[in-house]
Amino acid sequence: MRSTSLLTGLSCIILASTAPTTANDVNPFIGKSYYANSAYAAKLEQTVQSFLAEGDALNAARTRTTQRTGTFVWISSIGDIPDIDTAIKEAREAKKTTGKDQIVELVLYNLPDRDCSAGESAGELTIAANGLERYKSEFVDPFAKAVQKGSDLTFAIVLEPDSLGNVVTNQGIPKCATAGPVYEEGIAYAISQLQKKNVALYVDAAHGGWLGWDGNLEPAAKEFAKVVQMAQNLTKKATIRGFSINVSNYVGLICFRTNPASY
Ligand SMILES: *[C@@H]1O[C@H](CO)[C@@H](O)[C@H](O)[C@H]1NC(C)=O
Ligand SMILES: *[C@@H]1O[C@H](CO)[C@@H](O)[C@H](O)[C@H]1NC(C)=O
Repeated sequence: MRSTSLLTGLSCIILASTAPTTANDVNPFIGKSYYANSAYAAKLEQTVQSFLAEGDALNAARTRTTQRTGTFVWISSIGDIPDIDTAIKEAREAKKTTGKDQIVELVLYNLPDRDCSAGESAGELTIAANGLERYKSEFVDPFAKAVQKGSDLTFAIVLEPDSLGNVVTNQGIPKCATAGPVYEEGIAYAISQLQKKNVALYVDAAHGGWLGWDGNLEPAAKEFAKVVQMAQNLTKKATIRGFSINVSNYVGLICFRTNPASY
């Protein structure tokens, strides 16, 4: 996965629900607004200024529109946990001002030995330095606690972009072979600790150019099922709402046609 800062504002695409459809099974996004988080809007200000400096008013205006658009907040380190409190505060303010129910969109992203294949967004935790235990107690537990404070809001949480994709296809890479069982245990733990009525969980399923190949579909499905079962071993009936895709990269088919060499 590429630099997290670049991806900070990407909205995730929600693919499908795994839960059986029942009368109570409502798409959590329906009827909700996605408030624009101030931290990402502030980051975009630099982009606006550089467009203006080039005399490009059109793209500056487009970027301003993006500043007012809802995006996921990336919680990518232990130090980011307080950003959940900020997100809750901003969502409540948006509800007050607009009268519309808000959905708080978060990405949980801090596994030990993160990004085992690309190494471009390696995180603060390592397996060698007790990273899995720290992930659970210093990251997932406080994350769940922070989310609990927003019991009046709805949350959509994307879990660990790209990680299970690496478990499915990159076990030939030594770092990923070591990381595989740790990723599974970490994500299962996160699922088990975030079982709340107002929280919809989406396990990341990479993108079509990665897991979408015929040969990868079945192993991927088995992998996702295994991790949910591991979560159910920790919290009975633990479940996820669905999957996210295209979070960190996607295949633009048009480029594929015109320039196959670039893939
Ligand atoms: C769940 O726990 C049972 C009993 O310990 C074990 O046999 C099973 O393999 C576990 N499932 C997973 C997916 O780890
Ligand atoms: C993911 O990206 C691909 C490639 O651009 C696109 O075809 C697909 O529609 C996207 N998926 C969703 C759910 O939007």
